[in-house]
Amino acid sequence: MEDQRKSVLSCMQPTGLMHLGNYFGAVLNWVELQKDYRCFFGVVDYHAMTMPYNIQKLRNNSWDMITDVVAVGVKPENLFIQSLIPEHAELGWIFNCFCSYGHLTRMTQFKDKSKNNEASSKEGFISAGLLDYPVLQAADILIYRANYVPVGKDQDQHLELTRSIAQRFNNTVGKEYFVLPETLHTETPKIKSTADPSRKMSKSAGEKHFIGVFSDEARIRKQIRSAVTDTGDTKPGEMSEGVENLFQLIKASGYKQNEYEQLQKDYSNGELKYSDLKDVVADAIVEMTNVFKERKKELLEDKRELKYKIKQSSEEIRKVAQETVKEVKDLVGLMNIKF
Ligand code: TYM
Repeated sequence: MEDQRKSVLSCMQPTGLMHLGNYFGAVLNWVELQKDYRCFFGVVDYHAMTMPYNIQKLRNNSWDMITDVVAVGVKPENLFIQSLIPEHAELGWIFNCFCSYGHLTRMTQFKDKSKNNEASSKEGFISAGLLDYPVLQAADILIYRANYVPVGKDQDQHLELTRSIAQRFNNTVGKEYFVLPETLHTETPKIKSTADPSRKMSKSAGEKHFIGVFSDEARIRKQIRSAVTDTGDTKPGEMSEGVENLFQLIKASGYKQNEYEQLQKDYSNGELKYSDLKDVVADAIVEMTNVFKERKKELLEDKRELKYKIKQSSEEIRKVAQETVKEVKDLVGLMNIKF
């Protein structure tokens, strides 16, 4: 029987391990949405090639990210690895012809990443893949006709571009073939770096700018203890970005919620001690992540089992992608093997 549920898609790059921004901004929603929707969640290794990367590490990084995502509660049957489904790249090519070059050059992530790259790599090499990245992202989403895409705020512009590609495609073929996907945010769509709350938590900014979900307890506590609270540019009566970020971390964790209420009261009365706030944040994050770490330990005891499951699930999910690509090729005038 055909699955009538609405569908959800989201993806994550296999660049190092999962951090609290990824978890609270997106993956927490992935776990919840599995209850009611047909879900497709990908570890996108083609995307991880767009910036200079280590060939020896990429494959292992993909498996590590799979393990992390399963350890926090994503079901293996909803997961795939992008390069096991080459139709993503095929649809990406087709979409290149439905997206203007100018639109891609206006993407803030492209501007930021190409600037970083110029500064950090010796040759200042900026790949065409980096410019084209959002088109592949549109293919990731539309290939499963996703209704909803749970992501952090930093992906809003890419979702806009996805809708514009879908719209142009529909107009060109004269049919409402693709649904226009909607973005879904958690309550914390932008977690900030604790070392510099004016920027988002991210791996690309360097070690101190992200807290790993699977980092050891001592490191998590140390990073939180040294969190920047007052940035000096806060208006009177306004909570600083750093303090707000720390409150958000407790709230989002689901732990230490009574303490959270008390600390909010202390803040309102002008009695908040930052050291107390940081202690509660650290306790909440450590309690939450300990549960995930236990689960990860179990998963690592049988790595082959998990790999086997993901290969199977990728094969199943690929069937959906193949169906879409077949229909798209028909619609745009390309050849299919069986016609
Ligand atoms: P990536 O791998 O950088 O991040 C994965 C998810 O984590 C979210 N995120 C954050 N949310 C809140 N606060 C933060 N500090 C933070 N940092 C990261 C991201 O918004 C994302 O949801 N382009 C995507 C990967 C991608 C994708 C897709 C996503 C490829 N194809 C299709 C959705 C749909 C990326 O680089 O995410």
